[in-house]
Amino acid sequence: MDISGKRRIAVAAAALALVSSAWAGGDAENGKELVTKKYACASCHGANFNNPIDPSYPKLAGQHADYLAHALLSYKESSNAAIGRKNVVMAAQAAPLSDREIADISAYLESLPASVITHH
Ligand code: HEC
Repeated sequence: MDISGKRRIAVAAAALALVSSAWAGGDAENGKELVTKKYACASCHGANFNNPIDPSYPKLAGQHADYLAHALLSYKESSNAAIGRKNVVMAAQAAPLSDREIADISAYLESLPASVITHH
């Protein structure tokens, strides 16, 4: 790997560290406002984030906030092969989110009651 590739990874790692320091302060109330009024997350992830519209879509309720925040940042960084998650749908959803919004949304989703995952 060349130097610029290494630098990109260093920058990405620094961005992840920044977000991780914000997780602790996630404002769940604001996160609720964001996912119910500003963004249409529930249109796919379902009411209460427990009933996704398609069984292949993940349930978000009750997931750990740090995991959710990391996932959202990874979709934002889709173009970075070192940390990016590649999903066309979620890359578009995560693109407009600020680090603050990611922290708040993640705190809210973690606060929701999770339903036990059942297999049919
Ligand atoms: C058009 C449908 C759609 C919308 C709208 C949508 N999502 Fe998603 N979301 C998905 C799909 C599909 C996946 C699984 C993607 C994959 O396989 O990586 C996903 C995955 C995720 C994950 C990763 C969960 C995990 O277990 O790894 C998070 C977090 C997430 N979405 C949050 C959000 C948030 C926050 C919003 C609103 C800003 C949102 N989504 C809007 C369809 C959607």
